[in-house]
Amino acid sequence: MADTIESEIYVSPFDSIDLINPLELLSKWVDEAKELGLPEPDAMNLATVDKDGNPHNRMVLMRHINDSEIGFFTNLESSKANDIFNGSRTSSTLWWPQLSRQVRLEGMAQEMSRKMVDSYFAQRPRNSKIAAWSSKQSSQLESMDKLHQVFDGFSQKFAADTIPTPPFWGGFIINVEKIEYWLGREFRLHDRIVLSKHGDAWAKHRIYP
Ligand SMILES: Cc1cc2nc3c(=O)[nH]c(=O)nc-3n(C[C@H](O)[C@H](O)[C@H](O)COP(=O)(O)O)c2cc1C
Repeated sequence: MADTIESEIYVSPFDSIDLINPLELLSKWVDEAKELGLPEPDAMNLATVDKDGNPHNRMVLMRHINDSEIGFFTNLESSKANDIFNGSRTSSTLWWPQLSRQVRLEGMAQEMSRKMVDSYFAQRPRNSKIAAWSSKQSSQLESMDKLHQVFDGFSQKFAADTIPTPPFWGGFIINVEKIEYWLGREFRLHDRIVLSKHGDAWAKHRIYP
């Protein structure tokens, strides 16, 4: 029969998720995307809400992950940073179309320690460091010429020096409270599992596609 599903042979990877480390599967999926050479394997969409309740989203790179947190780096005076400092919760999505996999995460963000920020900034390419100094991210810019002038100015200023982390540049750690793993399957019989934190404990339940 052409359109029947042999569901008994499907073994879901979600059945073996360890609730002690609910982000382990995310870490594994990012690693697999990297191994396959997929573009921007740790790019995630990050949504925040401004003080008037308007949602905003943009891509950032997920540069930190452990058993309960993810993190990213950004300008601390940007729109997203303002939203977070004003108490916005965050919602993030990663998607690897070639693998038919999606992960959604929710949680509160807090500013990353300067120690962590400095150690990440130190290993960035020199021109990326200068670009960080040159950008008043999300503020109005009169022209691209102006940006190049500012970049050249900082290049000269730091010509002979180690480039320190700009005080306005940093990162955020999201304390993850809810995760949804999504695995695309034939006939849209997708496999979805939600992991949610209750106090210190995690619970999981499956949801319809
Ligand atoms: C693939 C991709 C990755 C990005 N990664 C970052 C990032 O890690 N940090 C960052 O501040 N902006 C990153 N950006 C730029 C943001 O999407 C955004 O334009 C910028 O942070 C300003 O956002 P805001 O005005 O909402 O604060 C990335 C953009 C793309 C397309």
